[in-house]
Amino acid sequence: MPRSKRVLVTAGPTREHVDPVRYLTNESSGRMGFEIAAAAARAGHRVTLVAGPVVLPTPPGVVRIDVVSAREMLAATRRAFRSADALFMCAAVSDWRPRRKRQGKWRKDGEREDIAIMELVRNPDILASLARRKARRLVVGFALETGDGATRARAKLRRKGVDYIVLNDHTALGAERSSVTILSSDGSERHLGRRAKRALAEVLVRLERPSQARAR
Ligand code: CTP
Repeated sequence: MPRSKRVLVTAGPTREHVDPVRYLTNESSGRMGFEIAAAAARAGHRVTLVAGPVVLPTPPGVVRIDVVSAREMLAATRRAFRSADALFMCAAVSDWRPRRKRQGKWRKDGEREDIAIMELVRNPDILASLARRKARRLVVGFALETGDGATRARAKLRRKGVDYIVLNDHTALGAERSSVTILSSDGSERHLGRRAKRALAEVLVRLERPSQARAR
């Protein structure tokens, strides 16, 4: 990206509350997204970071908006995307939420109850919905895959209509270091071997829209 762009980053997990004290979530630490926000700020960009619940300090020069659920993240990200030039959708958004959040604690009905059933409904796909209106903005998604990651990630890239998908394997979760493969919508791919997330972030914030990269 050329200097001084408005960069929007999402990071961390979301929490989907079952009742006031219980929730569904995942193992995301938020580190990769925070490193991307920090690297973008160091590169001279204006950075907004929409963060799920994580215990990480806000990188210098970054405007942080804290959210809890996927629906809150959708609202904050949609608002910030209007004036953004680039989106790095690093958050591990929960695909599902309980159909209803109970007002009071979900109590056991008695000691003999061995099975409980909770209905889940689909959360909005934030990345896909913003990518539909991306116009000339750079939109980068992330995928964490097990098994045949590249094929699944490439299908995800097309389905969500993004410029790049950054493919991680699950050993990246919570780790200081990671290796990734950057899949581009122009069909190319680039592997970055295991290195600190800070070093990966330095590369990611230099990505340009694939058509621009080709034109040079
Ligand atoms: N994403 C999103 N909104 C969702 C779910 C995911 O914006 N409700 C974004 C994530 O931030 C990430 C990408 O989409 O950039 C990941 O895609 P997803 O289909 O959720 O992949 P996985 O979570 O890796 O899982 P699965 O293969 O189970 O779909």
